[in-house]
Amino acid sequence: MKIVVFGGDGFCGWPTSLHLSDLGHDIHIVDNLSRRKIDCDLGVNSLTPIRSIFDRISCWNELTGKNITFSNLDVANSFEKVLDIFTELSPDAIVHFAEQRAAPYSMKSAATKNYTVNNNISATHNILNAICLVKPDCHVVHLGTMGVYGYGTAGIDIPEGYLEVNVAGSTENQTTEILYPTNPGSIYHLTKSMDQLLFAFYAKNNNLRITDLHQGIVWGVETKQTLKDERLINRFDYDGDYGTVLNRFLMQAAIGYPLTVHGSGGQTRAFIHISDTVKCIELAVSSPPKEGERVKIMNQMTETHTVKSLAELVSSKTGAEISYLKNPRKEADENELNVNNASLISLGLNPTLLSDVLADEILDTVKKYADRCNTSLIPCNSKW
Ligand SMILES: NC(=O)c1ccc[n+]([C@@H]2O[C@H](COP(=O)([O-])OP(=O)(O)OC[C@H]3O[C@@H](n4cnc5c(N)ncnc54)[C@H](O)[C@@H]3O)[C@@H](O)[C@H]2O)c1
Repeated sequence: MKIVVFGGDGFCGWPTSLHLSDLGHDIHIVDNLSRRKIDCDLGVNSLTPIRSIFDRISCWNELTGKNITFSNLDVANSFEKVLDIFTELSPDAIVHFAEQRAAPYSMKSAATKNYTVNNNISATHNILNAICLVKPDCHVVHLGTMGVYGYGTAGIDIPEGYLEVNVAGSTENQTTEILYPTNPGSIYHLTKSMDQLLFAFYAKNNNLRITDLHQGIVWGVETKQTLKDERLINRFDYDGDYGTVLNRFLMQAAIGYPLTVHGSGGQTRAFIHISDTVKCIELAVSSPPKEGERVKIMNQMTETHTVKSLAELVSSKTGAEISYLKNPRKEADENELNVNNASLISLGLNPTLLSDVLADEILDTVKKYADRCNTSLIPCNSKW
């Protein structure tokens, strides 16, 4: 297939582009490199020494003979150029990662709130709008987040996007299915909730074929393809804005920094390994909804853990101290989380669960680049 990967220079997008290219798909990356620019603005760097997108692509070509092409393009602010991409490439499918993805960054200031809303909503809308005009049979695969559901599960398993409800009709009760009511905990999560409505509208009104993957927190760093050469290495965020919890703990343990648990650590979250992320996208791309079908929503996660249990696991393996800090976020101190992830499992996902071997792999990577870490950037300074 001809596949355009929007946001293909990022943490999930780069290994996904390599994985899909390795499978024989024809990959074009669109990215405005804004994530690298935000690193400069924040004075932080990926712990791993990521190469430029041009070096990455030429290394892949040198190793495999496969050609990935690239456009430096702001999807949120250049509608005409987005149209050109669809006209010139006529893709069978697109994968849409091109959004500002950190909750703490989105809550940092009035300017980052505005940026996150404008960037994420316009990027999604420009892509859908262009597809309608130029390539209406193109399958859209979007990365959403488990965070749209919120973290209060009312004692049920979180379903895959739709909730069966029983409502009182004028003569009798009616059973129907609605989009699971969203309960975003940050401006970032709010934009993902708004994306859902854009998708529902375009699937209903224009018969677009759309898959929305509600992903858990991604951990790990390397995939089979990124391990082929150091020039293909994936990004590893550890700072208080972009670093995600399990990767942060592993990195903190590796440099002897007490593990930063926010609050009591009773927050339960969903997780997925980066190798499973790329596999799920392969599965989603090859299993599109039919024209006229509602948006296909799948929960892209493999396990749940409390933050405290993750810290204890990392501590028991490495001897790291745990420090319980005041929670900078407005969120419940404790929650349960049960999630239905049957769709991707039935399509063939074989989960990579958090095991000692994998944690070792990450610890080795982190130790190798530990001297690149600026410890002053570890605390989370964005508060809400
Ligand atoms: N990383 C996670 O743990 C996680 C968890 C759940 C969902 N997701 C979702 O997966 C997607 C990818 O996440 P990630 O961790 O790879 O993020 P990332 O920030 O590493 O990658 C996003 C990429 O999109 C690009 N981008 C952003 N706005 C753009 C625009 N207007 N035009 C062109 N390119 C643009 C950035 O430069 C970056 O390369 C996001 O949408 C995120 O919400 C990520």
